[in-house]
Amino acid sequence: MDKFIIGGGRPLTGEVTISGAKNAAVAILPATILAGGKCVIENLPDISDVAASVRILHEMGAAVRMLDRTTLEIDTTRVDTTVVPDHLCRQMRASYYFLGSLLGRFGEGTVSMPGGCDLGPRPIDQHLKAFTSLGATDSVEYGMVSVKGEPLVGAHIFFDTVSVGATVNAMLASVMAEGMTVLENVAKEPHIVDVANFLNTMGADVRGAGTDVIKIRGVEKMHGGDYSIIPDQIEAGTYMVAAAITGGNVLVKNIIPKHLEPISAKLERAGAFIEEYDEAVRVSRPGPIMSVNVKTMPHPGFPTDMQPLITVLLCLAEGTSIVTEGIFENRFRYVEELHRMGANIQVDGRVAVVEGVGGLQPAPMRASDLRAGAALVVAALAADGTSEIDEIEHIERGYECMVEKLVALGADIRRVSRPAETRAKAF
Ligand code: UD1
Repeated sequence: MDKFIIGGGRPLTGEVTISGAKNAAVAILPATILAGGKCVIENLPDISDVAASVRILHEMGAAVRMLDRTTLEIDTTRVDTTVVPDHLCRQMRASYYFLGSLLGRFGEGTVSMPGGCDLGPRPIDQHLKAFTSLGATDSVEYGMVSVKGEPLVGAHIFFDTVSVGATVNAMLASVMAEGMTVLENVAKEPHIVDVANFLNTMGADVRGAGTDVIKIRGVEKMHGGDYSIIPDQIEAGTYMVAAAITGGNVLVKNIIPKHLEPISAKLERAGAFIEEYDEAVRVSRPGPIMSVNVKTMPHPGFPTDMQPLITVLLCLAEGTSIVTEGIFENRFRYVEELHRMGANIQVDGRVAVVEGVGGLQPAPMRASDLRAGAALVVAALAADGTSEIDEIEHIERGYECMVEKLVALGADIRRVSRPAETRAKAF
């Protein structure tokens, strides 16, 4: 129940270094189980979703050693259970990746039904389709999902919908299946490619990641490996929007500009000026914010995780913008909070009509999920006065040192912990 207090109205200026990608990290950590040996993972973001994944590995018998702030050595030789502790699973949606890696190594795995951000129904039928196509059986009992099947045999799997999670889980389960697995209609996000590269570092034979078809030739055994995680595309996009909305000038460092193209293209249309370097982009906004229409789509389309952030920017645009959510059914809940700031947004199902207003007023707000929370932070940075954002634990699932990074850019933001007595009274 901690909160951010944010004094808005200051243009952000300076440099920010982007951390490792959350969505790659939460897949790569479970994938280390497949090694049955020692892996060294670099550029891990210091966020609570990573901490939860590491705690799961540790409780399952892995030896985990911190080499430095962003580097972990994980030895999964002694993992001795195929059941992921329920209390840890509930903290993060991506705990479902343990299903794929446990099935791949031990022929069975059990996790509780995934938690994480509430963006409407988030089924895992395509994950289970992949597992059963490889010869496993699945069952759901008392809130736990179990998969079992040995030996797994390579198969041709056509996904009914493009799913990041199902694509990763299918790769994890099939790297040691007998023969060839072909995955079609797969997700192409940068973190899919990153997971495939890591699997290959551990001895797998995965080809085609980043295209619509991934081919996996099963290998008999995997081994440990050293790997450095890619930078976080969405964290970078968040600071780019923050620079643009405050009329600042920010060098966003340690990124892969190619991964940011769908975001940069829309920001430029909205009036941002973006200079691209080898591993950085500089974002400023010389003129007014302009209205644009945005539809979220699987990569290389505009990412759904950036939808709340671009919507906040468009609240201050000249004219009317239409934002269409193409991935999740219920991703506009945060709009109620923006109404408290004086935003003019009408939501009808998956479509938001955003009428630009002259300015945002400060307000007390509540972060309903990770990216919505980040969007409220950005809105508060642009507001004229002091806002408070509650339930920031959602934000800390995915943003490393957000307060420190923003303060270094000149923002007025601080984190306040509720005093212990008050917290005790809350129970
Ligand atoms: C991942 C990301 C999340 C991002 C999302 C879309 C991680 C840890 N999280 O979530 O940040 O917002 O991709 O880019 O990487 N679907 C089904 N059946 C399934 C699986 C998915 O119908 O079995 C549907 C979902 O309801 C959704 C769409 O497919 O409408 C895409 O979901 P998916 O790509 O699977 O998202 P996640 O992997 O949960």
